[in-house]
Amino acid sequence: MRLSTTTTTIAFVFASSCLATALPSSFSSSPHAASSSVVEEKRSTDQEILTALAGTYTLVNTSSTLHDLPIPDEPYGAHPVGVLIYTASGYMSATITATEPFLRPNLTFPYQASDSDADWALVGKHSVGYAGPLRINPDIPASETEGQVFHGPLTVANVPTWVGAEHRRNYTVVEREEEGKSVKYLEIGSERGGGYRGILWWKRVD
Ligand SMILES: *[C@@H]1O[C@H](CO)[C@@H](O)[C@H](O)[C@H]1NC(C)=O
Ligand SMILES: *[C@@H]1O[C@H](CO)[C@@H](O)[C@H](O)[C@H]1NC(C)=O
Ligand SMILES: *[C@@H]1O[C@H](CO)[C@@H](O)[C@H](O)[C@H]1NC(C)=O
Repeated sequence: MRLSTTTTTIAFVFASSCLATALPSSFSSSPHAASSSVVEEKRSTDQEILTALAGTYTLVNTSSTLHDLPIPDEPYGAHPVGVLIYTASGYMSATITATEPFLRPNLTFPYQASDSDADWALVGKHSVGYAGPLRINPDIPASETEGQVFHGPLTVANVPTWVGAEHRRNYTVVEREEEGKSVKYLEIGSERGGGYRGILWWKRVD
């Protein structure tokens, strides 16, 4: 899929007459107030950003910090797997699980009467799956390569309190040449409250 490179030019035109009436008289005596000024700023629309981000990504790595000091990623373990899907129409879905057998007993679905709740509790603690709307945060400057999105209000989540929640995620698109091919990575930063932060790297596969 090709990325949209179109940008919209938004021109802010300040009419000098409006400024002159809005500002104190000392300002209107300045020579600049007499001429109108045009500030041109290149901005992508939310639709262009969603179209640029839309794709399927696999999880590369995760890292966590508490007050900027690295801490182990307890829920996801050391070798998590995940898939993140963003659509151009504004939906997202994310699934991440640990892979270590001691964090993830080899259970089957549906659960069996002989399964222990402790085994299922481990599975629950070391996996997340959620989906819902995706939108660009309008309060922070956003482009096709950097900005902030909201996941949510989530319509489905394995973590009960996440249903209806809106998660803030910073995104940065990093493009690298690998073996003669251009590979796109998505670096996602999340503020988890209480000084906890997470960084997740995703590689675009589709
Ligand atoms: C995660 O993967 C990205 C992409 O390959 C890399 O740039 C980054 O350094 C890695 N981070 C960690 C903590 O391994
Ligand atoms: C996990 O369970 C499945 C289904 O019962 C089985 O086929 C597989 O061999 C098991 N894997 C391990 C690592 O025990
Ligand atoms: C996310 O972006 C905001 C605004 O640029 C910044 O204040 C915040 O520190 C960032 N958080 C993370 C986890 O990257």
